[in-house]
Amino acid sequence: MPDGHPLLRGERLFRELLDASPDAMVITDRSGRIEVVNRQAVTMFGYTAEELAGSPVEELVPEGPTAVQPTAEESGRELEARRKDGTTFPCEVSLSPLVSDDAPLVIATIRDITKRHQLEEQFQQAQKLEAIGRLAGGIAHDFNNRLTAILGYADMALAQLNPSHPLWRDLQEIKTAAHRSSTLTRQLLAFSRRQVLRVEAVSLNDVVRQTDRLLERVIGEQITRELKLDEAVPAIKADTGQLEQILTNLAVNAKDAMPDGGCLTIETHAADMTRHHPDARPGMADGPYAVLSVTDSGHGMTRTVRDKIFEPFYTTKAPGEGTGLGLASVYGIVKQLKGHVGVSSEPGRGSTFRLYFPATDEAVPAVRPSVPEAAAVGRERVLLVEDESGLRSLVFTILTRHGYRVIEADTAEAGLQLARRSDQPFDLILTDVVLPGLSGIEMVKTLQPLRATNVLYMTGYSDLVIEGRGPAESDPLIVKPFSAQELLRTVRNVLDGAA
Ligand SMILES: Nc1ncnc2c1ncn2[C@@H]1O[C@H](COP(=O)(O)OP(=O)(O)OP(=O)(O)O)[C@@H](O)[C@H]1O
Ligand SMILES: [Mg+2]
Repeated sequence: MPDGHPLLRGERLFRELLDASPDAMVITDRSGRIEVVNRQAVTMFGYTAEELAGSPVEELVPEGPTAVQPTAEESGRELEARRKDGTTFPCEVSLSPLVSDDAPLVIATIRDITKRHQLEEQFQQAQKLEAIGRLAGGIAHDFNNRLTAILGYADMALAQLNPSHPLWRDLQEIKTAAHRSSTLTRQLLAFSRRQVLRVEAVSLNDVVRQTDRLLERVIGEQITRELKLDEAVPAIKADTGQLEQILTNLAVNAKDAMPDGGCLTIETHAADMTRHHPDARPGMADGPYAVLSVTDSGHGMTRTVRDKIFEPFYTTKAPGEGTGLGLASVYGIVKQLKGHVGVSSEPGRGSTFRLYFPATDEAVPAVRPSVPEAAAVGRERVLLVEDESGLRSLVFTILTRHGYRVIEADTAEAGLQLARRSDQPFDLILTDVVLPGLSGIEMVKTLQPLRATNVLYMTGYSDLVIEGRGPAESDPLIVKPFSAQELLRTVRNVLDGAA
């Protein structure tokens, strides 16, 4: 050990203090020549202490503090450090003078900040996706209301025409286009975590097994599928339809990455997350998780691609072959369920997507028997509250044409007045959730104690569901955009107590 300087000579305590530091510590003379290094410096840089003694500190931090001012204090300068093998890593250098009677020395503390940089990057990525999500969600929400009206009117017009009518085909085209657009808004809403989810305790394994049958058709025979399901995987709170959607999106991507065939592996397992778990991410709560991983042996991706894959409309596929919404919606759905998505992939070496879902203690309910379809007409009195006029008049028309007696209001306040003034109770309150002024839920809360009645909420927005300002999980709900048939069926079910 080159303990040449008198201050360092024979001072065991000093040595031990140095070695106890989690940071690399390098003591130099005023010209930047290394006198002493601690154990962590040896580990961090890969040199022996002997190799370092006498070398310029620039060996370790090339752009470093060349003209080291022995009296200057400096803390937390971000620089690049270089190991013996030539690899580099980001570091934070702090300098402090060590005053002595002999020649002055400088202590440089070098902290490896690779992990911090990674976390910052992840955080920025998440923030960016958050911002795009808000924008996309806002557009998709308004668009959904209009699509519901387009679909509904097209349906009603079709119901009055004979298929031989010259307008029949045009109307069918309008319907098809509107349907396609509603798929798009659904994906955007999923990405922005505003999709209405009907979450319940589900078994990830059950969903994988069910979806696997579908996947066979989706991915074809050139690709072999392998399921490795861990029976110890905990139940999760999720929407089964959404989980199927996630699996399908990932499988289709895998298929596209393996044009000449290959292997698709779907695995589940249990994981206990703590801050120290290698896959832990900022904001991820500690605790038990169910992990779903989907691995393909396809062409993989470069880092540049990997950094962008969750952005909506990011695609590397030819025009018409991909919209770039598959992974964006996977990301949104998983986040909405308070989960996490990780990906590892390298060019030529396949890809693995790992999805973490928080476990639940709730028991998975037994499969419900399907309710026989009720006749969709009725004579009941319905109070309809919806602010978007196109949608309101559509719902009004559908219901009145099927026998219901409907009174409309465009705000919750107007709805309350109508309900109070009416001498006959309504059989059903059919209301939007988000309204200007009072919300549909507040209106119902005010009315219910006066006159208990059936309620059906219409919504295309799930922020409220998440923030707990929305309908309770057990409240009947119809999700926009809906078709005339869906509306009639749901209204009938609610009135008959079957929903
Ligand atoms: N398993 C995979 N292997 C290699 N690259 C992938 C894989 N999954 C996704 N990618 C890359 O990520 C991009 C985005 O995927 P995403 O599913 O969001 O959109 P898409 O598949 O291009 O279009 P869409 O799913 O909307 O039809 C893809 O274009 C592809 O470059
Ligand atoms: Mg895709």
